[in-house]
This record gives sequence, structure tokens and C-alpha cells, in this order.
Amino acid sequence: MVVVEAVVVMVVVVVVLVVVVAVIQDVVEEGVATFVFSKGRSEMDDRGGGSFVAVRRISQGLDRGNPCHSTSAEAVAGSAAWLGRGLSCVCAQRRENDARPSFDLTPAQEDCLQRLQNRIDVAYNSSDPEHQEALKALWNASFPEEKLNGLISEQWKEMGWQGKDPSTDFRGGGLISLENLLYFARNFQKSFQDLLRKQVGDRAMWEYPFAVAGVNITFMLIQMLDLEAVKPRNMVGATFLKFLSENESAFDLLYCITFKLMDHQWLSMHASYMDFNTVMKATRRQLERELLLEDITRLEDLPSYALLRR
Ligand SMILES: *[C@@H]1O[C@H](CO)[C@@H](O)[C@H](O)[C@H]1NC(C)=O
Ligand SMILES: *[C@@H]1O[C@H](CO)[C@@H](O)[C@H](O)[C@H]1NC(C)=O
Ligand SMILES: *[C@@H]1O[C@H](CO)[C@@H](O)[C@H](O)[C@H]1NC(C)=O
Ligand SMILES: *[C@@H]1O[C@H](CO)[C@@H](O)[C@H](O)[C@H]1NC(C)=O
Repeated sequence: MVVVEAVVVMVVVVVVLVVVVAVIQDVVEEGVATFVFSKGRSEMDDRGGGSFVAVRRISQGLDRGNPCHSTSAEAVAGSAAWLGRGLSCVCAQRRENDARPSFDLTPAQEDCLQRLQNRIDVAYNSSDPEHQEALKALWNASFPEEKLNGLISEQWKEMGWQGKDPSTDFRGGGLISLENLLYFARNFQKSFQDLLRKQVGDRAMWEYPFAVAGVNITFMLIQMLDLEAVKPRNMVGATFLKFLSENESAFDLLYCITFKLMDHQWLSMHASYMDFNTVMKATRRQLERELLLEDITRLEDLPSYALLRR
């Protein structure tokens, strides 16, 4: 009998200990989340279910005049550091419905975000003449010396599409993934051609397919910046909106930087096809770090921008 009682007591003690440890862990995690935020990081976004920081900026911009090219002080400084100064209330909360931070936008930023969201919502339509033209233009910019035999053609595989009809690969990214590639081809011809033809570095036997990787990058950026939300819910997304309200090409430019950065990581990790998702994750982390650096007022200030060649 005494033995049974002793066992019961021990079980109770163990249960109490487990509860205490769990509570302490929670408190510690909360401390970490708050600290992480105050360092201006966005990792907390990935901590589903933990403790979070709700942020609300109260000061509103005066810039109603010229959306997307506003000149107010608010839009001029784009760094995370600036954002930090504009935040007026930082409070730790544990309620589920407030589980993510939310950032209030100026009317100009709201406009820019809305316009980008409209672009993101356009699905590729094979019977739309404008979409067809964009696809032809992409071929032209990629292989100016080679005539395209048709919108559906085996030739597309040379570019790293999965089949002879690229539109089947756009499903994830929509028309914007084609626009991103086209912007890259036109504005950074040298880097685009190097990546398309896999001309730089000691390359893997099993390379990633260029065009499909491009669609994946569009998709990753939309997720990373949380562009489908009404308002940005992470620090990186809020920071990006500053750049977007200064220059409407910000998404396309960030795409070019990301593509080049991804290839850079691919080479330095000596990656092969199966490593593609790992490389993408490393690219995303690096990009998030760079976007949150202090003193970044334009995308051209990102360290990885230096990798691009026109
Ligand atoms: C695709 O484009 C064609 C031609 O412009 C148009 O008639 C059709 O309604 C579009 N389809 C969708 C789903 O938007
Ligand atoms: C393709 O490029 C050539 C010159 O490089 C140009 O003359 C032609 O109009 C272009 N075609 C398309 C469909 O963009
Ligand atoms: C593209 O990205 C998604 C999500 O990260 C991943 O599951 C998928 O395998 C990727 N596709 C290719 C072709 O790499
Ligand atoms: C926007 O950024 C692009 C890419 O750097 C640049 O070429 C363009 O001139 C910029 N536009 C404005 C209005 O600043």
C-alpha cells in the first residue's frame, strides 16, 4: 500500500513539473518573439501559434496626390529602421485572432498594393492576344536569333519549360510570372542570358529548369511578401510596400535580384536538381535579411543587387 501511495505521489510530482516547464518555455518563447521583433526580423511569421506582436502605425501620410510616386517623407525613406520609428504601439498579444502583426498603410501605399494585387490575379489566358504577344516577346528576348515555330512548340523546352506549351507551367504564377521573366530579359539582358544558357560557374549535371524556376520565384515572392493579404502581415511585406510606393517596378526588380541570388546560392551550395527547394529556402532567408537591413532606401541598395548585370 505504501508503495502504491509513493507511486501516486511521484506521478503527481512529475505532472506538476511538466506543467511548470511548459509554462516557463512559453514565457521564454514570448521573450524571444518580442526580441526577434525588436531586432526587426520577420521570422516570427513562421512561428505559427506562438506569441506574437501586434503593431499598428498611427501616423498617416499626407501623400494623397500622386499614388505610387509619392514624395512625402513617409515614402522617401524605405528602410526597416524607418518603419521602426514610425511604429507607435508595440504590444505583445496572445489571442488567436490577433495572431499576426498588422501594418496600417497610407492611401498611396494601399493604391500601389491594390494595383499589384490586380496584376497577380490575372491568370494566363491562351486565347488572349495580349498574353500571346507577351509570350512571343519572351521568346524573342530569349533567343533573338531563333525563329519560334508556334505558341505550342518543342522549342520551349530549350528554355526550361516542362513541355511544349508554357501556359501549363504558368498555372501557379499566372500572367505576372511571364511579365517578370520579360522584365528580366529586357532590363538585365546580360544576367538573363547567363542564367538562361547556364553560362556562369561550375554547374551541376542536373540543373534546375530555367523557366520553371522563374515561375517558382514569382510564387515564392508573392508568399514571402504576403501580397495576397489586404495588408502586409509581416515586416518584410511592410518594408517592400515602401519600395513599391516609390517605384511601381519594385516587384519586377526584386524578382530579377532574387533570380540572380538564387543562382548564386545554387552555385555556392553545389546544388543539384533535388536541392532546388533547399536553395529556394536559403534564397528567401537571405532576401528577408537584406530587405530588413538598415540604410536600405531603394532596392538598388540591397547587397544582392550588385550581382545583376545589364
Ligand atoms: C480569354 O481571352 C479571350 C480573348 O480575349 C476572351 O474572349 C475570354 O473571355 C478570356 N477568357 C477568360 C477566362 O478570361
Ligand atoms: C522580335 O525581335 C525583332 C528584332 O530583334 C523585332 O523586329 C520583332 O518585331 C520582334 N518580334 C516580337 C514578336 O516581339
Ligand atoms: C515550386 O515551389 C513549390 C513550393 O515551394 C514546390 O513545392 C515545388 O516543388 C516547386 N517546383 C519546382 C518545379 O521546383
Ligand atoms: C524604377 O526602377 C527601375 C529599376 O531600377 C528604374 O529603371 C526606373 O527608372 C525606376 N523608375 C522611377 C520612376 O524611378
